[in-house]
Amino acid sequence: MDNSPELDALLARLDTGASRDRISAAADVAELEVVERDLLGRRSGAREVREAIKGLDPSERPVAGRALSSYEAGVREMLAERATALAAAAAAAGEADAAERLDLTLGGHGLNRGHHHLVTQVQRELEDIFVAMGYAVAEGPEVEDDWHNFEALNFPPGHPARAMQDTLYVKLGRPEQVMLRTHTSPVQIRVMQSQPPPIYCVMPGRTYRNETLDARHSPVFHQIEGLAVDRGITFGDLAGTIEAFTSAYFRTTVPTRLLPSFFPFTEPSAEFAVGCVFCEGSGCRVCSQTGWIELGGCGMVDPNVFAAVGIDPEEYSGFAFGFGLERMPMLRYGVNPIKTFFDGDIRFLSQY
Ligand code: DAH
Repeated sequence: MDNSPELDALLARLDTGASRDRISAAADVAELEVVERDLLGRRSGAREVREAIKGLDPSERPVAGRALSSYEAGVREMLAERATALAAAAAAAGEADAAERLDLTLGGHGLNRGHHHLVTQVQRELEDIFVAMGYAVAEGPEVEDDWHNFEALNFPPGHPARAMQDTLYVKLGRPEQVMLRTHTSPVQIRVMQSQPPPIYCVMPGRTYRNETLDARHSPVFHQIEGLAVDRGITFGDLAGTIEAFTSAYFRTTVPTRLLPSFFPFTEPSAEFAVGCVFCEGSGCRVCSQTGWIELGGCGMVDPNVFAAVGIDPEEYSGFAFGFGLERMPMLRYGVNPIKTFFDGDIRFLSQY
């Protein structure tokens, strides 16, 4: 018995070959899902065939039903195969990407940029302050001879002031003639020898003394020296200069105090102190309840010093000062003890 034309029309719509072409054309999982919906979904040709079967002659319905079932089973199988193939291709592509990727991860240690030691920073900062006031910067040797370190500075041989300096001598030449400089004051002498007045100069550098290490003393430390030689320089200029640079360093107007003292190379001589920057003079632990912090020595250049370097004390006068560099950051940051500066401990140094 021949099929009815209606049955043939329905069977023609179940085109496995055309469906296979669409399935294999799907390039990825998303496209495959669209194809699946088109072939088997609610609005698909297969669904229309299922509905149409109801209108066939009852004798032909089983034929149409079996044909539809086998078509749908075949389509599902092809969809599953294609899905597997697409997943494998995606995994392979991912591996290829991973193989080409460069691992640019660095090791666990970042590359930290170094910076100047705290003492160097303070030295540069003070140099900048003085340069802004019209001063030049000079340096001298750390190994000095007796004449520059003592004699020209008006320490005669055997003078008790020499004993105050705890000198570290170097085994060179005649005994006790070559030493590690005990202060930066010999650079004053070298500057005055090398140029005529007017002189406005600061002289920073490392200094040495045969001193036992304690909280505030170290056998190696740094000083900065100041020297002004010109016509008509007075003690008032010295006082004003001290007030100007301490205020610039502590970034606030600090009162300064001069108390009589003695140094062979200045006359008169003074110790200078600044009002305590912590308690503003009311008294605290840092200033030992005095309200003042001693910084260094100063005075008017002694005529004997001018004579040693050939400057006429009738024509010129001058002032000088000197103080420990470590003292400044000790005060500003509360660094203690002084040996902290020389330990080279990166945990300390990296904080500044
Ligand atoms: N050279 C002195 C010292 O090391 C400090 C000093 C005092 C320097 C008075 C000076 C000065 O220039 O005028 O203790």
